[in-house]
This record gives sequence, C-alpha cells and structure tokens, in this order.
Amino acid sequence: MAEVIVPLDFASSDEAFSMVDRLGDAGTFYKVGLELYTRAGPAVVSALATRGKRVFLDLKLHDIPNTVAGGVRAASELGVELLTVHSSGGTAMLEAARDAAGPGTKLLGVTVLTSLSASEIEAVWGREILSIRDEVGRLTELSADAGLDGVVASALEASWIRRLVSDDFLVVTPGIRPAGADVGDQNRIATPAEAVRAGADYLVIGRPITQAEDPRQALEAVLAEIRGANEETP
Ligand code: C5P
Repeated sequence: MAEVIVPLDFASSDEAFSMVDRLGDAGTFYKVGLELYTRAGPAVVSALATRGKRVFLDLKLHDIPNTVAGGVRAASELGVELLTVHSSGGTAMLEAARDAAGPGTKLLGVTVLTSLSASEIEAVWGREILSIRDEVGRLTELSADAGLDGVVASALEASWIRRLVSDDFLVVTPGIRPAGADVGDQNRIATPAEAVRAGADYLVIGRPITQAEDPRQALEAVLAEIRGANEETP
C-alpha cells in the first residue's frame, strides 16, 4: 500500500520537530532536504530515528563516483531508508552509489528536475530535446539498469514509468494536492487517490499537511483517501 512521506521543509530542527510532534503517530516517514540538513545536520536524522520515524534524505547527490559512494555510505550509516542521487551522474556513479548503500538504504534516481524547461535542458546538454518525457524514460531505465531501487517522478508520469520498470521498482511522487487544496507553486499535480491509481509507492506531501490549520487531521484525511484508492486498485 502506498505510504505518505511528509517533507520537513523547515529552517530549524525546532520547527521540524514541532511538526513531527503535531503529527504524532500518524506521521511515520519524513523527508529531510537540503535546507534542514545543512542547518541541523545528521543530528536531525538521528533524532527522527530515535523517535522511531523513517527517513528519506533528499540530498540529490551528484559528483564523481568515489565521492558519491562516500556520501551514500555515510547516509546508510545514519539509518536513512531512502536517499536521492541524480540519474544524470552516469552509470559509474550510480553503480558506485548502489555498491556503497547498506542493506537498509534504498536509492532513488532524480531524472529530470521538474523545474527545467526543454530549452534549459537543451542549453545544458547541447542537443535538441524533442520530449522531456523521453528523457525521463531514458534516465529511469539507466537508473534501473545500474541497480537503483526507484525514481522520483510526477504522479502524472507514474503510470507510464511503471510500464518501463519491474513491479518492485519504487516510484516516489511529489506534487500531490488533495482535491480543493491550495496548489501553491506546483503546477503538474495529482490527488493522493490519482497518484495511488497511477502506481506510486510513496507520496511526498508537504504544505497541504504542514500548512493546514490541523496538520494531523489533514494527514489522516490523506491516509483515508489512500486507503480508499488502494481498496479499489486490484
Ligand atoms: O509542499 P509540497 O507538497 O509542494 O512539497 C513537496 C516536496 O517535494 C518538497 O520538499 C519539494 O522540494 C519536493 N519536490 C517537488 N517536486 C519535485 C521534486 C521534489 O515538489 N519534482
């Protein structure tokens, strides 16, 4: 059954843990990103683990294979369950990352950042981009071939990605907005039920929960929607 990951997009560990406390036992899995990790460091991961929470460390590693392997090893030792690396780092980097990951750590590839337009990608890669989706597919297959455990992708691409990879390959989807929620700066969005039906394994849902008047109630409502969608999915 698909699970919810709440991103702790906060500037201090005090704010982050006040949210963790508010969500209580409804919040089981948290994403720590660049800002919180840079401010609060590995201590934030250990503190989450101490409270029995699962951690997705979203550092989007991209460097030479040896350096990325060192970062992956360190994250594994911290007890991180999901960790991101850039698929465009290439096969040698992805394989080095996979080899360095401990048994409890799954690696997710970031294919094409959703913030990039076709013209920006063309400027970076120096060739014509006919379809961003094809680039996402190519980098998904590169990631799977290198032994990564999954990719981060929009829910709108999840069902299409599912067809390229095996059933146990993880699809983690941000850009989720329950019906009626404020869209904010996301533009390619899906509801929790749509993401589940599209084959997402983990739904990263931030502001619709963390900015809600009652975050716990908002999370419980999302969990109920996911359970409903799972029941109707064969
Ligand atoms: O608040 P919201 O639900 O938009 O948060 C989504 C989270 O997923 C944020 O931490 C954001 O950085 C991350 N993310 C995203 N879109 C991507 C990749 C990651 O929104 N393409």
